[in-house]
Amino acid sequence: MATAKYPQACKRRVFFLFLFANICQAITRQIQYSIPEETERGFLVGNIARDLGLDAKELSDRGIRIVSPGRTQYFALNYKSGHLHTTKRIDREEICGQEEKCILNFEIIVEDSMKIYGVEVEVTDINDHAPTFPSEKLVINISENAALGSQFPLLEAQDPDLGNNSLQGYKLSNNSHFSLILQTSVKGKQYGKIVLERPLDHEKEAVHNLIFTAYDGGDPVRSGTAQLHITVLDANDNAPIFSQRIYEVSAREDLPLGTIVVTLKATDLDEGTNKEMTFSFAEITEKASQLFHLDKHTGALTLIGSLDYEDSALHEIEVQVRDGGGLLDRSTVIVFVTDVNDNAPKLEITSLISSIPENSPPATAIALLNVQDEDSAENTEVTCSIPSNLPFLLTKAYGNYYSLVTARALDREQVAAYNITVTVTDHGTPPLSTSIVIPLEILDTNDNPPHFLQSIYTSYLMENNPRGASIFSLKADDPDCGENSRVTYSIIEHNISDSPVSSFLSINSETGTVYGLISFDYEEMREMKFLVKAQDGGSPPLSSNVSVTLFILDQNDNAPQILYPSPPTDGSTGIELAPRSSEPGYLVTKVVAVDADSGQNAWLSYQLIKATEPGLFTLGLHTGEIRTARFFLEKDALKQSLVVLVKDNGQPPLSASATLTVVLADTIPAVLSDLSSISAPVDPPSDLTFYLVLAVAFVSCLFFIFLLVLLAVKLHRWRYSQSGTEKFSGVPVSQFVGIDGVRAFLHSYCQEVSLTTDSRKSNFGFPKGNISNTMTSHQPCEINDPFLIAEEIANSNGDSANIQVKSCYQIKGFSLYIFS
Ligand SMILES: *[C@@H]1O[C@H](CO)[C@@H](O)[C@H](O)[C@H]1NC(C)=O
Ligand SMILES: *[C@@H]1O[C@H](CO)[C@@H](O)[C@H](O)[C@H]1NC(C)=O
Ligand SMILES: *[C@@H]1O[C@H](CO)[C@@H](O)[C@H](O)[C@H]1NC(C)=O
Ligand SMILES: *[C@@H]1O[C@H](CO)[C@@H](O)[C@H](O)[C@H]1NC(C)=O
Ligand SMILES: *[C@@H]1O[C@H](CO)[C@@H](O)[C@H](O)[C@H]1NC(C)=O
Ligand SMILES: *[C@@H]1O[C@H](CO)[C@@H](O)[C@H](O)[C@H]1NC(C)=O
Repeated sequence: MATAKYPQACKRRVFFLFLFANICQAITRQIQYSIPEETERGFLVGNIARDLGLDAKELSDRGIRIVSPGRTQYFALNYKSGHLHTTKRIDREEICGQEEKCILNFEIIVEDSMKIYGVEVEVTDINDHAPTFPSEKLVINISENAALGSQFPLLEAQDPDLGNNSLQGYKLSNNSHFSLILQTSVKGKQYGKIVLERPLDHEKEAVHNLIFTAYDGGDPVRSGTAQLHITVLDANDNAPIFSQRIYEVSAREDLPLGTIVVTLKATDLDEGTNKEMTFSFAEITEKASQLFHLDKHTGALTLIGSLDYEDSALHEIEVQVRDGGGLLDRSTVIVFVTDVNDNAPKLEITSLISSIPENSPPATAIALLNVQDEDSAENTEVTCSIPSNLPFLLTKAYGNYYSLVTARALDREQVAAYNITVTVTDHGTPPLSTSIVIPLEILDTNDNPPHFLQSIYTSYLMENNPRGASIFSLKADDPDCGENSRVTYSIIEHNISDSPVSSFLSINSETGTVYGLISFDYEEMREMKFLVKAQDGGSPPLSSNVSVTLFILDQNDNAPQILYPSPPTDGSTGIELAPRSSEPGYLVTKVVAVDADSGQNAWLSYQLIKATEPGLFTLGLHTGEIRTARFFLEKDALKQSLVVLVKDNGQPPLSASATLTVVLADTIPAVLSDLSSISAPVDPPSDLTFYLVLAVAFVSCLFFIFLLVLLAVKLHRWRYSQSGTEKFSGVPVSQFVGIDGVRAFLHSYCQEVSLTTDSRKSNFGFPKGNISNTMTSHQPCEINDPFLIAEEIANSNGDSANIQVKSCYQIKGFSLYIFS
């Protein structure tokens, strides 16, 4: 193996020999060896001793040694055998790298001969390295739409060996898409590229895993592999596609905000950003854009505004989806809004009258109403109504118009104003309703006359009232209002006793207070009837009247008036006859007095205040009858004078007195002479009538007395013949028979029509009766006094047939009845 190559070494070193003459002189011989790399330690390189021509036995003696100043000593010399060995494993690539020849130099010095020998050891290459790639895995991203023929460089493999031991080529594992081409770089290095032979489809096969192999030319061939991880990058070759061409959805109009109406769905076969779809509106109306929101990621169509069927029954929206690569798809969303009864009907007053007069005829129009409902179908059907208890009607006028009219006559006095609630309800479920209140005022018309609080007024007034004093007041109401209820009072004019009532009374037209204009006199006027009219201020005015009765109340303002005995006109007194033979209790005469007042004021009492012979006569306290108290005695004077006081029962009492003269006479002629002498005197022409009547009465009385006496005598005889036991005086009882039956009634003031007041007001008074015929006339009269009749019946022992009115005289205010 070791070969000496002197010439070559020498040639090569020529240049050096000139430069380093000393060294070159010293090196006398060059020895060359060749060993493969990577041999074990102690590998025999060559036999130095033989190659130098030295005896192996004298090697150590001659002082031979290896010198390699500044270099690694790879070799060692065996002094016994003279062999050169490696001292360690030699790696050619480590020492020489890619140099073609790898030579290790050292020198051998023979000390005793001062000779130097150069030794060259060439280390030859063996295929001890396989090609290697810088990384085991190579990732290549290729877009799926890469053009055919596109080249992608691959990794370069390294093999530090030399020549055929170094990298010889590349291989690519079997695949359907790629091929391998080899190219040589400018440095002469070979590298591979893969070429796209067939189109890639990410969606079909996203990854291609290939094996890339590099091999060398050694024996055996060594190779290295790397994994080729070819990722087919997604290209946006697929447009997104909506799941439906048209999305039709229906939504109730009362859908709450935020509700998802529909979620759009689209698919994109691509990946990554190419699959990232964004949804958006492609075409949308202004209105719809305020109602809907489209989530660009999820495709959810959300309600953000209130749907209103009435506003728009459907919304058509063009939507689109766009992927990351900008590919689009479009679809249409149609949202059908379904009606919900969400609109209450609307009620509008088209025209309105706020007030109507109460006398408006039925069917007077008050208001015209318009009803609208914005919903659809049956949600728009409405019912319009008003409370049934009101006097109004709601009628359908035309279309959606209703008119409110009066149903019947109105009365402001009952209801002055109405609040008419008009309610309109639709037929939806649930129904909605609206109501409005129409205020209506009823205007007053003068349809009510004033109305007096009492149907009849009765008032009482004490006579002798001060003039101008208020007597009473009356009041009338008028239910109308304003001027129509302003009542004025007036007394309806008529005549009372030929004088107009206004001369007695006046009325305050505003207050209704009645004033007396005069001082009334009960004795003149006991009651007054008149009408008071109340009239309102309406136009035309209405009035009503009420009857008022004013009763004048009596005051004790009249003293008793003595009618009999008639008051003396010339100082003489009346004369009464009393037979001397009279028995006690004999009625001599009767004092007749009247009092113009009434009641207690006219209740008279009689008193004997003076007598010639006290105790001879008694006087009936209330009857006024003068009767004998005892038998007359001879010593009694012929002429008895009596003073009678007549007093009424008023407060204070008033009185009058009269003087009577009673003549005690036995015989009628004496009496007559006496009477004539007494009653003959002068009659003043003024009292002529009175005396004339008195005289006639007297004569008549005498005539009757005569008849009575005659009758008595006959009766006496008849009775005497029957039984002689009874006494008979034979003398008439009284010259003034029937004086018992005298009743005086005074009805002095002719304007009085009835005595009903008397009978009501006084517990003591004159009997009731029709005394209107109180004329001073001589005429037959009837018995009108029931008391009188009763008394006569009693006196005649129940034989009413015997009662006969012989004669009746009425002398101004009293009547004289004469009974048989
Ligand atoms: C290849 O694509 C992946 C993602 O797909 C990326 O992470 C990687 O860095 C890419 N490699 C190269 C060399 O472009
Ligand atoms: C290298 O290989 C080639 C062909 O493979 C061959 O012709 C040549 O002789 C080889 N060289 C050596 C030094 O073996
Ligand atoms: C590789 O391809 C060749 C020819 O195309 C074929 O004969 C061979 O079986 C394939 N090898 C593999 C592992 O597919
Ligand atoms: C009508 O309504 C008004 C307002 O609420 C009220 O003041 C008035 O008293 C009512 N009228 C009637 C008659 O109810
Ligand atoms: C009322 O009396 C007056 C006189 O006092 C007289 O002129 C008038 O005619 C009378 N009227 C009636 C209706 O009697
Ligand atoms: C008074 O009223 C009555 C009805 O109440 C009527 O008949 C009469 O005519 C009226 N009298 C006057 C004077 O107005």
